[in-house]
Amino acid sequence: MHLTEREEKILGGEYGENMRKGMEILLAIGKIYNADRLIPITSAQVSGVSYYNIGDAGLEFLRDFSFNVKVSVKTTLNPSGMDLNRWQDLGIDKKFAEKQMEIIRIFKKMNVEPTLTCTPYLIGNSPNKGDHIAWAESSALTYANSVLGAMTNRESGISALAAAIIGKTPEYGMHIKINRKPMVRVKLEAEITDESDFGVLGYILGKKIGYEIPWIEGIKSAGIEELKMFSASIATYAGVPIFHIPGITAEWKDFDRPEEFVEIDRKDFDNAYEYFSDSFEEVDIVWIGCPHTTLEELRRISELLENKVVNTELWITTSRKVRNEAEKLGYIKIIEKTGAKVLSDTCLAVAPLKNMFKTLVTNSAKAFYYSRGMNRFKVRLANLNKCINVALKGRWR
Ligand code: F3S
Repeated sequence: MHLTEREEKILGGEYGENMRKGMEILLAIGKIYNADRLIPITSAQVSGVSYYNIGDAGLEFLRDFSFNVKVSVKTTLNPSGMDLNRWQDLGIDKKFAEKQMEIIRIFKKMNVEPTLTCTPYLIGNSPNKGDHIAWAESSALTYANSVLGAMTNRESGISALAAAIIGKTPEYGMHIKINRKPMVRVKLEAEITDESDFGVLGYILGKKIGYEIPWIEGIKSAGIEELKMFSASIATYAGVPIFHIPGITAEWKDFDRPEEFVEIDRKDFDNAYEYFSDSFEEVDIVWIGCPHTTLEELRRISELLENKVVNTELWITTSRKVRNEAEKLGYIKIIEKTGAKVLSDTCLAVAPLKNMFKTLVTNSAKAFYYSRGMNRFKVRLANLNKCINVALKGRWR
């Protein structure tokens, strides 16, 4: 790889041991992917924040890697393993909480913003079209590539942190325009109306076209909520870091429509919904907020719940910033009066909840995947209205 004079000096250790380590990480990745050079980035999103996921080995790594080094671009953080203000309410033990707090202190010391959300684009880390960025968190980076037109590969927590420190990333993959071009035309013959349909569409695409970048026709409109849900789902089930929807996403005009096509109809959705339906009636918990909810979603939830009482756990996850805004508007008071919890800084996939619940209902296809796979819950997928109904009844039907 071609290195600038400064990059050579960093590699030689002139800027300190951890800058050298950061440079080595980027160069190792660059070599694997045949990158010619490093290019400047405007922001980073770092994952690997929950102590539940990274454990003592990860904490030890961060202790070492953070010594005498700071990030050089705007850098935000993924959710941690607990709500920092109310971890006791969630049954999290003190030892876990102490380790989690240490991880966050380490990131803060490096000048990383402790945003603790998977929706950085909703709270001020919102890059422009054409900006090169280094984001971990598959749902966020897929949203950034597709909806915002920013350019990022699927980074790991460590590579995103190394890029944040050096302020650069190797130029390969999604940083090169031609690699972002659509490969398969998807003709959607079914009407999709709500966010759970968008999640299911990501699953169907994973089955039908796998890692091919789709150009999806037949979607008349999609707001932030649907696009964030779809980004999370397609990243989970198809592993695709970008998609194009004519009239909606950022770069559809930059490319020709692909010739090869597949069709998706109502039958595909009906079959897929069977996959998303484990069998159970009694519901232990309903989870909304994967990816973290928008202010608009909290408004809708407050409207659906007003003056009612929930009959099972209802946990809604959102960023601290959106929660604060919702609090000012009175939504949190209405929601929590019903017995539901609006949690920040965390998500149920990275919190230590393994044996706490057995059955879960969610409106997110990604949450379905992690709740079933990692936490071993039985899970059902439903749209927001149905999720709220289930929470009120405490039962699926
Ligand atoms: Fe976000 Fe957790 Fe879902 S990080 S996308 S809420 S699995």
